[in-house]
Amino acid sequence: MRGIVLAGGLGTRLYPLTKVTNKHLLPIYNKPMIFYPIEALTNAGITEILIVTGGNNAGDFLRLLGNGKDFGLKRLHYAYQEGEGGIAEALGLAEAFAEGEPVCVVLGDNIIEKNIIDALKAYESQDGGARILLKEVSDPQRFGVAVFEGDRIIRIEEKPHQPKSKYAITGIYMYDSKVFDIIKELKPSGRGELEITDVNNAYIETSTMRWSILDGWWTDAGTIESLLRAGNLVAKTGANKID
Ligand code: DAU
Repeated sequence: MRGIVLAGGLGTRLYPLTKVTNKHLLPIYNKPMIFYPIEALTNAGITEILIVTGGNNAGDFLRLLGNGKDFGLKRLHYAYQEGEGGIAEALGLAEAFAEGEPVCVVLGDNIIEKNIIDALKAYESQDGGARILLKEVSDPQRFGVAVFEGDRIIRIEEKPHQPKSKYAITGIYMYDSKVFDIIKELKPSGRGELEITDVNNAYIETSTMRWSILDGWWTDAGTIESLLRAGNLVAKTGANKID
């Protein structure tokens, strides 16, 4: 399993904090944001990691992370997303890196209290396809939201005005190599992006999507409110805990 951290996009919801730097280099308590998703992957035993970034400050990632020594890695891989064509577009840039292996994707602004070890094991014992991690939240309309029929997810709705469940789709996804064929067929959404929710719905349509519930707290850090919340949560309990 190879790891991918998506850290492109312009971070406009954090303006002016992101006027002269990339959102994923901003601090969450005592570390730059990008450290947390990388650690989520290394904690699960993943040692081959690609960072997809973009914008005007991409070189700063190299200066900050180098070859990944701080994370016990021998080397890190990098890719550059031109523009802000969406999460699925950023993931599409990882095809050569994946070399046909399954991938675990973590959005660069997602922070977790615990770890994804169990979900990864579950993915490894399923027959290919995809696995997503869900978390019950009080504000599902901010996220992709699972629509259930019994305990089966029949659809994911992106930022619905009237969410059909309280289960948000976290920014942690596991896919087989078919994901890159799915991405090639996607059309941009109303907001002009290739949507990860469309990728997930394609797996749901072929009944090859499984899901797990994420243990411990989960937050994004892409808005002023969630950035503050993330810092406070990390200060209080720490993040990426193994026990
Ligand atoms: O955090 C989980 C949510 O992330 C999911 O519930 C949603 O289904 C999913 O669409 C996504 O929603 P957001 O609107 O919060 O995504 P955002 O545009 O903030 O992008 C999240 C990260 O993805 C960002 O920190 C970096 C990466 N990204 C995003 C875009 C738009 C890229 O690498 N390239 C991009 O073009």
